[in-house]
Amino acid sequence: MEAWKAYLEEHKDRFLEELLDLLRIPSVSADSTYKEDVARCAEAVKKAMLDAGCDTAEVCPTDGHPIVYGEKMVDPALPTVLVYGHYDVQPADPLDLWTSGPFEPVIKDGKIYARGACDDKGQFYMHIKAFEVMAKTNTLQCNVKMMIEGEEEVGSSNLGKFLETHVDKLKADIVLVSDTSMISMEHPSIETGLRGLAYLEVEVTGPNRDLHSGVYGGGVANPINELCKMIASLHDENKHITIPGFYDKVQELTDAERKALNDAPFDLDEYKQDLKVNDVAGEKGYSTIERTGIRPTLDVNGIWGGYIGEGAKTVLPSKAYAKISMRLVPNQVSDEITAMFQKHFENLATPGTTVKVTPHHGGEPVVTPTDGKAYQAAAKAIQTTFGKDPIPTRGGGSIPIIALFERILGLKTVLLGFGLDNDNIHSPNEKYDVANYYKGIETIPYFHKYFAE
Ligand code: BES
Ligand code: MN
Ligand code: MN
Repeated sequence: MEAWKAYLEEHKDRFLEELLDLLRIPSVSADSTYKEDVARCAEAVKKAMLDAGCDTAEVCPTDGHPIVYGEKMVDPALPTVLVYGHYDVQPADPLDLWTSGPFEPVIKDGKIYARGACDDKGQFYMHIKAFEVMAKTNTLQCNVKMMIEGEEEVGSSNLGKFLETHVDKLKADIVLVSDTSMISMEHPSIETGLRGLAYLEVEVTGPNRDLHSGVYGGGVANPINELCKMIASLHDENKHITIPGFYDKVQELTDAERKALNDAPFDLDEYKQDLKVNDVAGEKGYSTIERTGIRPTLDVNGIWGGYIGEGAKTVLPSKAYAKISMRLVPNQVSDEITAMFQKHFENLATPGTTVKVTPHHGGEPVVTPTDGKAYQAAAKAIQTTFGKDPIPTRGGGSIPIIALFERILGLKTVLLGFGLDNDNIHSPNEKYDVANYYKGIETIPYFHKYFAE
């Protein structure tokens, strides 16, 4: 496999420049101001696929942002790898916390700083470059299909339909995704599960209009005060979630499984130091690894209402709002949890208030097998390029479409992620280590090789 190494060595700088060019396109899927940029990014991905050696590549329109699909069929007798990733990114705000422009990538201390550097442009682009390495050195061991979407960060709402209408086109033996993290370069790991998601918005209404907080204060319910109480009541003193039925379907792991998870290297002091917190907090009876991997959670993502401008304005607001998400674990079902939350929260309405709950998107939790050929190929690929066996871990994030690959296409997934937990994805100063980018490009061809064996 010297040919791979030589090709990568020779084209290293260009591979990096190309990624930086991609990062300059502000493909923010959530904000319609960027619609043209998202479309431009899709075209750039299509061109990259063709330049890398795909036989065909196309930008497939959807009711939302387009999906880019490209493939190279080497021989129908060979196994087929379907690569999935997303070229859309999260909004960059708050802008003033970035040390350089989110769409003006810079390399500092061996790290690429830009929105999307890790999630997921830097990671899906490794697959296009690994594919180029194999295609240009005539060493493709598998047929390759690549599906890179533009709506992952807004819930992939049009991808399910695309899967349903392209079952034949997407026929493959495995889905390969780089959109997760590993413990560290010293401790390579593979996520073997992702949490699901249920996301809702709540609105609490008190009086029909904003009031003078002196004239009316004390006389009617303040919806912000009430919303805070309602939210506080969603956890008990052990940080258990109080929604009736919430834990009914939660799969409890065996002591042996829990021990295996907790054997992964994890330094609590380093974790606290990195986040500048004086202590961790979470569900009683579980470690931080468990709290963020195999246990469900409920978090307020945003809360607003009343006066938040400069100085003080004495006002008793008419309305209060919050966005609330729950991370789910097997075998919780997103729609069921959404219904439970809605019913429970509406019942929490206190005298003088009304409560409205609006569901947003959701997604199912997944566990990926560790006993099959695909996981073994991924583990062996990591072993080859890192010199260490990967540690199986459970990821806390969500990629809702993974459950649909199984349900609609009957395909299992391998999560071969090269990000790090402190890459600041969705935060200011998102970064991706140049070393991880190259390591990914080096590792992926081995996956194809071992999977084909
Ligand atoms: N790539 C992330 C998910 C992720 C990150 C998984 C790190 C494991 C480790 C993905 O782009 C993402 O952000 N997903 C969203 C859900 C989506 C429906 C908006 C999430 O997890 O919040
Ligand atoms: Mn992602
Ligand atoms: Mn993301």
